[in-house]
Amino acid sequence: MNHGTIERNSILLLVLCLVVVSIGGLVQIAPLYWIDSTIEKVQGMRPYTPLEQAGRDVYIREGCYLCHSQMVRTLRDEVERYGHYSLAAESMYDHPFQWGSKRTGPDLARVGGKYSDKWHVEHLNNPRAVVPESIMPSYSWLGQTPLDLSMMEPRMKTLATVGVPYTDDMIANAAADMKAQVSPDSKEAKALLARYPKAKVANFDGSDEVTELDAVVAYLQMLGTLVDFAKFDASGPNLR
Ligand code: HEC
Repeated sequence: MNHGTIERNSILLLVLCLVVVSIGGLVQIAPLYWIDSTIEKVQGMRPYTPLEQAGRDVYIREGCYLCHSQMVRTLRDEVERYGHYSLAAESMYDHPFQWGSKRTGPDLARVGGKYSDKWHVEHLNNPRAVVPESIMPSYSWLGQTPLDLSMMEPRMKTLATVGVPYTDDMIANAAADMKAQVSPDSKEAKALLARYPKAKVANFDGSDEVTELDAVVAYLQMLGTLVDFAKFDASGPNLR
C-alpha cells in the first residue's frame, strides 16, 4: 500500500508533511498580502494630526497600554458598553497598534468625546480628583512638560516610509500644525482642518504653551471618532 511506503520513508513523509502544511499556510496567509481586500475601505479615516500622533507617542512612552486596550470586540457586552466594535481600518495608520488584551482600566478605542477636555486634564493630573476609587497613577508632569515640536517632522517622515499617507505639505507644516491645534479661531487652525478633517482644535490644558498634556488629551479626544457609524454599512462592499 502507498501509505506503508510513506510511513517507512522518513524523508518522503517529511516532504509530504511540508506540502500539506504549506497549503494550509498559503490559504491563511496569502490573502493578507492583498491588503486592500483585507482592510475594507471606510470613509472618514485620516492619519493622525502631528499633535495627536505626539500624544500617541507619549501614551506609548508612559505605558498606558499596560492597563488599557484599544479594541472593542464584536461581543454584545462590549458593544453595549463601549460602542460599535472596532474595524480593521480604524487602526490602519497605527504603528504600533494598541489592540491589547489587558484591561485594568476600560477600553479606550472609543473614549473620544466621552468626557470634556477639562475632565481629561484633571483625570490625568490626579485620577482620584474625578474618580475617587480610581487606581490609575497620576501623570501630573505631562502638563509641566513642553512638547518638543521639532521631533514631529522626522517622526512623520518615518511613518510615511511605513505607509502612512503623510504628504510633503503635512510634514513641512508639522510644528506649525501642533501649535495651530491648540489655538482655536486662528487662521492656522483653518489650514490644519483642511489637512486633517474633523481634528479637534482647542486649548486642551488651558496653558499658553504646547505641553505633552495637550498632546495626550488631543489624542484621547479623537479616539474612535473618525468613522461615522450612521453611514457605515457593516455588510461591507463585497458582501452586498
Ligand atoms: C495601573 C493601570 C493604569 C495605567 C498605567 C493607566 N490607566 Fe487609565 N485607567 C485605569 C483605571 C483603573 C481606570 C478606571 C478608573 C478611572 O477612570 O480612573 C482608568 C481610566 C482611564 C480613562 C477613562 C476611561 C473611561 O472610559 O472612563 C482614561 C481616558 C485613561 N484611563 C487614560 C489613561 C492614559 C492616557 C494613561 C497613560 C498616560 C493611563 N490611563 C494609564 C488604569 C490605568
